[in-house]
Amino acid sequence: MEKIVIKNQDETNSEIIIEKGLVKNLENYLNEDKKYFLITNTTLFKLYPEIIAKFDKDRVIVVKDGEKYKNQKTFNYITDKLLKAKIERKDAIVALSGGVVGDLAGYVASSILRGVELIQIPTTLLAMCDSSIGGKTGYNTKYGKNLVGSFYFAKKVLIDTDFLKTLKESQYKCGLGEIVKYAFIEKSCKHPVSYGLLDILYEKSTYDIKLEIDKIVSICVNLKAKVVELDKKEGGLRKVLNFGHTFAHAFETLSNYKGMCHGEAVAYGMKCAFKLAKEKEFIDEEYYKKALCVIDKFKLTTKELKFKKEQIINLMKQDKKVLDNKINLILPVESALVEIFDNIEEPFVEACLP
Ligand SMILES: NC(=O)c1ccc[n+]([C@@H]2O[C@H](COP(=O)([O-])OP(=O)(O)OC[C@H]3O[C@@H](n4cnc5c(N)ncnc54)[C@H](O)[C@@H]3O)[C@@H](O)[C@H]2O)c1
Ligand SMILES: [Zn+2]
Repeated sequence: MEKIVIKNQDETNSEIIIEKGLVKNLENYLNEDKKYFLITNTTLFKLYPEIIAKFDKDRVIVVKDGEKYKNQKTFNYITDKLLKAKIERKDAIVALSGGVVGDLAGYVASSILRGVELIQIPTTLLAMCDSSIGGKTGYNTKYGKNLVGSFYFAKKVLIDTDFLKTLKESQYKCGLGEIVKYAFIEKSCKHPVSYGLLDILYEKSTYDIKLEIDKIVSICVNLKAKVVELDKKEGGLRKVLNFGHTFAHAFETLSNYKGMCHGEAVAYGMKCAFKLAKEKEFIDEEYYKKALCVIDKFKLTTKELKFKKEQIINLMKQDKKVLDNKINLILPVESALVEIFDNIEEPFVEACLP
């Protein structure tokens, strides 16, 4: 069992526990005297009846599966159910899910009765390594993704990699995109331990990486936990987590969030960032080749993107603040280290696009 604590100034520390098979003994992590309300989706409800059965059936809320349901309507559905079931401030919400329900349930927990305890049980690779950690919650609106929400740290994040056994290969890939990102930003995360994630991903076969996924999840969680502890509300350091994302968000918008998952979009984005950094001579040819080798290993960028460069640039300008027509970017500068640049000229950005 591994325990990682994200310290807050007040008593609201966030505890992350990583243990294979943990959920089988979920009761050990819950408080007998507390009422727990479970929020999950239809897919997990069917896949994991033995976990659902651990909760009082009047306190289980099941929402439809899909990013398109991460909206105000589902938020209202959940809060209505909770209020009808007479949730009280001393009760807690448990989110059993990937990032979609996790973000929604987190926002519900942060706002219902002005805040009740939240426990996250992430069930996708992406949620384990990324979305369940760091306190970002919210839902999508017609104006864009995640535009309504809050920062609200889960009291506990319980990570059990046994959930990955039922995850579809395509969903696994989405998580791998973010894992590769952590490898390229490791030194920027200011974690005192040097894990060498990039070399692990570079040297091992994809088969071995899958076998060692517990260790890799643990590394990613440790890195993210450190970054968000140092920067709770995205004032500065957290920006390194957005490596590849300014490009990725443009690709996701242009593809209408279809045909490409977030992790794949991030992989395309990281490739652009590496190309640009090489052109600018921030990195040498050797690191460039190594980086591409790692991204290609996971077959995250196998499709040919056919977006217009002008459209990509326009969207990238919307994504981040633009000064004098210069786009804000996070770029690699040496092995596992990135820096934030606000002075990259548009022609350089254009030249690195697919
Ligand atoms: N809060 C954050 O910091 C943060 C960070 C990154 C992403 N996100 C958000 O996360 C969301 C994406 O999360 P996601 O990729 O986990 O998607 P998701 O929650 O939609 O899960 C993907 C699919 O896998 C299914 N699934 C989940 N666990 C499973 C399991 N163990 N076995 C079989 N199927 C399973 C789900 O039902 C769903 O169909 C996006 O909405 C994104 O905005 C949030
Ligand atoms: Zn991401």
